[in-house]
Amino acid sequence: MARIPDAFIDDLIARTDIVELVGARVALKRAGREYQGLCPFHDERTPSFTVSPAKQFYHCFGCGAHGSALRFLMEFDRLEFLDAVEDLAKRAGVEVPRETRQRNEDGGLRRMYEVLDEAARWFRGQLAASRRAQDYFARRGIDAATQDRFSLGYAPEGFDGLRNALGTSTEALRLLEQTGMLARSDSGHVYDRFRERGMFPIHDRRGRPIAFGGRILGKTTADGREAGPKYLNSPETPLFHKGRELYGLWQVRQAHSKIPRLIVVEGYMDVVALFQYGITTAVATLGTATTPEHAELLFRNAADVFFCFDGDRAGRGAAWRAVESVLPRMKEGRQAAFLFLPEGEDPDSLVRKEGAAGFDARLSAAVPLSEFFFSELSQDVRLDTLDGRARLAERCKPLLAQIPDGAFSDLMRQRLGELCGIATNAPAPVMPAVPAFARRAAGHAAAPRRSLVRSAITLLLQNPALALALEPPWQFAGLRQPGVELLIELLDHIRAHADVDLRAGNLIEHFAGREEAVALEKLALAQLPGEAATWQQELFDALAQLARQTRQQRIEELMGQGALDETEKDELRELLRARTRD
Ligand code: UTP
Ligand code: MN
Repeated sequence: MARIPDAFIDDLIARTDIVELVGARVALKRAGREYQGLCPFHDERTPSFTVSPAKQFYHCFGCGAHGSALRFLMEFDRLEFLDAVEDLAKRAGVEVPRETRQRNEDGGLRRMYEVLDEAARWFRGQLAASRRAQDYFARRGIDAATQDRFSLGYAPEGFDGLRNALGTSTEALRLLEQTGMLARSDSGHVYDRFRERGMFPIHDRRGRPIAFGGRILGKTTADGREAGPKYLNSPETPLFHKGRELYGLWQVRQAHSKIPRLIVVEGYMDVVALFQYGITTAVATLGTATTPEHAELLFRNAADVFFCFDGDRAGRGAAWRAVESVLPRMKEGRQAAFLFLPEGEDPDSLVRKEGAAGFDARLSAAVPLSEFFFSELSQDVRLDTLDGRARLAERCKPLLAQIPDGAFSDLMRQRLGELCGIATNAPAPVMPAVPAFARRAAGHAAAPRRSLVRSAITLLLQNPALALALEPPWQFAGLRQPGVELLIELLDHIRAHADVDLRAGNLIEHFAGREEAVALEKLALAQLPGEAATWQQELFDALAQLARQTRQQRIEELMGQGALDETEKDELRELLRARTRD
């Protein structure tokens, strides 16, 4: 793939007005030198999403989403990198370096897209004209709305229907062959690849057909011959690489502005049937294992991914290949789980029997990645012997090493420690109970200056579980004091990993390499005044006090502002009233 020079990207980001870009998609209000709004990446009622024009950067204190204009376009518009670059370049009125552009704008490619679009429309017309094909889809229980949504069609019998209809010039014939719609015999004769098949167009991320899957209507053709393979897919073409595409993703994106989860199934029919029954987040790999590209694409679209497989050996094998593709992508906040289907069923048949609620219930009972991982790897291992445990540890090591640092990685290592019995005898080497930095400096901590924010952070570091008793929204989020952002990040981080027994060490690890890390290490070493029983109350009190300071800050801001509009006046009255109540 063509590479874009980093300098070009830097320049592009510098030329882009991030406030304008984000502001066109999210309502923003000026707040000091920055802009604030409701975060588009998670649900919230009070704004914790800020855009900084000076830093050309956005950041959400609630969910941690952050990045440049480029990242925003990729995340919000769900564009691939190259498309996001194209988009920014167009706004900035600059040219993307030539070798990069070719892939997107090459005239030949454009003609291929057009010819596939024509083919899709022709197949739709053929479906409208074929009783037999309509009967087939009706028999499979696919209603008209769903047929429309997935642009289902029909490739009629005969070898030259499409060829005659669309192959009206030498160039058109060439394009039809390049896109896999026509096949070529040994003798050089060119003919329709898809014949007598129900047609499922495969759309790219912009909704353009780039390939097709075609299903036979029955075991035999209308004139009594063998119908051939059940499904026939377009071959690999310049537009279509099956390892990179997911059938149905376009429809899922159309149905959701924010995709809550993705369900990966095997077949076209599964995606279509689930959708019709109200499960509108299913996609299918196209007759291949889950590739790393698939995993990347899945997680770029949703943080939670469910994989459905047959419960048999082949299904577990396929699930393991998915594990291998997914592990290196298990960044903070992502989750994967596996649903193994009863024998003889697929999602299509299940959802018809059990409805969306039944299928949902199966999803809630899906096996988490961590569980599937260890159960597969310890299958032929005797955990009651030292050798067995050593073997398990050996097997896990290279795989665990692929997981990005974060809570999931910690959890997996901890679990391995438990399985191998390390944790019970001595502190697991992977998660030292006394963090290394603490051993290094034990007893030499200078007591840091006290401030409310510092106290709150100190309390949290020494006892992260305290955060679990607190609920956002954080009333002090707007307070302009050093450490407030850090405090919020800590709170949110701990709350997002409520299932993990986090220690100061984990938290410091999380900030490793950032400038806050040093301060955190110091605070983690401080001697906490008081005793465990009172810490929760102390934290509550500190946060309540910070909330009051935030209110006071806003009151002063409004009073110092001069002319206030009606909403601001209301706000000020409300704030003053609240102050007297306290
Ligand atoms: P299945 O045989 O399980 O098909 O293949 P299905 O989706 O349940 O389809 P129906 O219900 O019989 O119509 C699952 C997937 O494997 C690929 C297709 O992507 C199919 O949807 N496949 C299967 C092929 O590519 N070629 C085949 O011959 C069969
Ligand atoms: Mn099926």
